Amino acid sequence: MEFPVLKNDRLLRAARGEEVDRVPIWVMRQAGRYLPEFRELRSKHGFFSICQNPELAAEASLQPIRRFDLDACIIFSDILVIPQALGMTVEMLPGVGPVLPEPLVSSDDIYKLDVTADITKKLSYVGEAIRITRHKLDGKVPLIGFSGAPWTLMGYMIEGRGSKTLAKAKAWLYQDPNASKHLLKVITNSVVDYLVMQACAGAQLLQVFESSGEHLGPELFKDYALPYIKDISSRVKGRVNELGLDYIPMTIFVKGGHYALEDLAESGYDVIGLDWTIDPVEARQKVGSRVTLQGNLDPCALYAPEEDLRRYIKEMVKKFGKSHYIANLGHGIYPDMNPDRVAALIDAVHEA
Ligand code: CP3
Repeated sequence: MEFPVLKNDRLLRAARGEEVDRVPIWVMRQAGRYLPEFRELRSKHGFFSICQNPELAAEASLQPIRRFDLDACIIFSDILVIPQALGMTVEMLPGVGPVLPEPLVSSDDIYKLDVTADITKKLSYVGEAIRITRHKLDGKVPLIGFSGAPWTLMGYMIEGRGSKTLAKAKAWLYQDPNASKHLLKVITNSVVDYLVMQACAGAQLLQVFESSGEHLGPELFKDYALPYIKDISSRVKGRVNELGLDYIPMTIFVKGGHYALEDLAESGYDVIGLDWTIDPVEARQKVGSRVTLQGNLDPCALYAPEEDLRRYIKEMVKKFGKSHYIANLGHGIYPDMNPDRVAALIDAVHEA
């Protein structure tokens, strides 16, 4: 596949641990409701209709790139397309978020999943969106592909919606470890195929979101998250290599996962994403010098007056240092954020 030549490779250089002229930045959820042009698009189309229409998904992905001096584009989609591809219904309800009306209740329900589904085919619309976006980006910045991590997806598949405790999903872990591991394995296989498909379609970095990491703690994480996270990096990189594609850096973001940083540093990922609850200096001590760190400004810091915001960012960049570092928020940007604050954030990172 021939794509326009990449003009800004800061993100990829930083991910590979190479020197950069300035710190690269992108923003989790940079494509989304805080942008009036996204709300306009969204007023005309359902959330998953945008995901499933490659032209519209490309448009949503490009919106933040047109507006801001970002160093990466992320493909517009959602982590819950995997449960959909496995045969589950997922709806996006206003004011609630994603809802799976028929969640997995008992281990017997695993057999209702369409485990033979060809993920590559079912989610080919994401591949098509990636191809279109790569062309339309015209090499301006690299394109990030992504997937949810197995434990986070298992959580949604059992809870049926966002949950403060994930008590139902965690009950599976404590009551039926074998069924839990079987389900995690099924999800892992889908995630691997899905990410390889994205790499083939033109994604230039792959991020895995373990957004429900904070609910596990060190013991459960070692048994129910880490092995699958590692399996994903090793199988995806192996397959990408066998296919003769360029090396593709991978990022693991475990929200609330500072207890796992030492292990994550050895898990086969090039970049570790951090939320805002850990000090950058402490994180660096835990992971050693080899991996690149990404993060970790509190998304709410964007509500601060401009002068304070600049100070926080300067401090953050100072603590992370300018090499092996990708600036980002510690989690997704909130929908009520004024886009001017994002411009100020990017500006301040570039100046720091
Ligand atoms: O980052 C980007 O700009 C790319 C697009 C993207 C979306 N979701 C679009 C989206 C990405 C990378 C995601 C990942 C995602 N989705 C995660 C992992 C990241 C994280 O936040 O921890 C999770 C847990 C989900 C599941 C999900 N999707 C939730 C919990 C919600 C509701 C949250 C909310 O803000 O309402 C969504 C909906 C969603 N995904 C929206 C967008 C733009 C808003 C939905 C809408 O337009 O109605």
